[in-house]
Amino acid sequence: MSVKLSVNGKHRELDLQQDTPLLWVIRDELELKGTKFGCGIGQCGACTVHVDGVAIRSCITPVAAVEGRAVTTIEGLDAQGNHTLQKAWREAQAPQCGYCQSGQIMQAASLLLSNPSPTDAEIITSMNGNLCRCMAYGRIKQAIKIAAASEVGDE
Ligand code: FES
Ligand code: FES
Repeated sequence: MSVKLSVNGKHRELDLQQDTPLLWVIRDELELKGTKFGCGIGQCGACTVHVDGVAIRSCITPVAAVEGRAVTTIEGLDAQGNHTLQKAWREAQAPQCGYCQSGQIMQAASLLLSNPSPTDAEIITSMNGNLCRCMAYGRIKQAIKIAAASEVGDE
């Protein structure tokens, strides 16, 4: 079936089964490889993208569920990699192996959209479902706090 999608501001029409996971479409059809496959069952957060600005797990989201909605992947956050969070991630040197990090950043971006000045507890609650095998949690939290402080400072 034909499915109409908006991904990173570009409109696409693809011939797909409606129950194809969005992650498969992003990686295999659109060749956007920044979004990662981890568990495939909604438990790790590696595949996190935004739908209308809200973080979702693309591995368990059928493509039909996002038809007509705005999908944003890590590649669409900032074309040059200079989103406030990406700059903060570099400043805090958050990644280790890096595999979980696009999902972490997309989850954090969704948090800051809804809550620009989160408390430590709110950061931990929001990021709780994004696993990091390298245990970079402390630096990830630090990066989110840097980004939040920088956004407040820019106002
Ligand atoms: S790959 Fe989607 S939550 Fe793990
Ligand atoms: S940086 Fe390696 S899994 Fe998170």
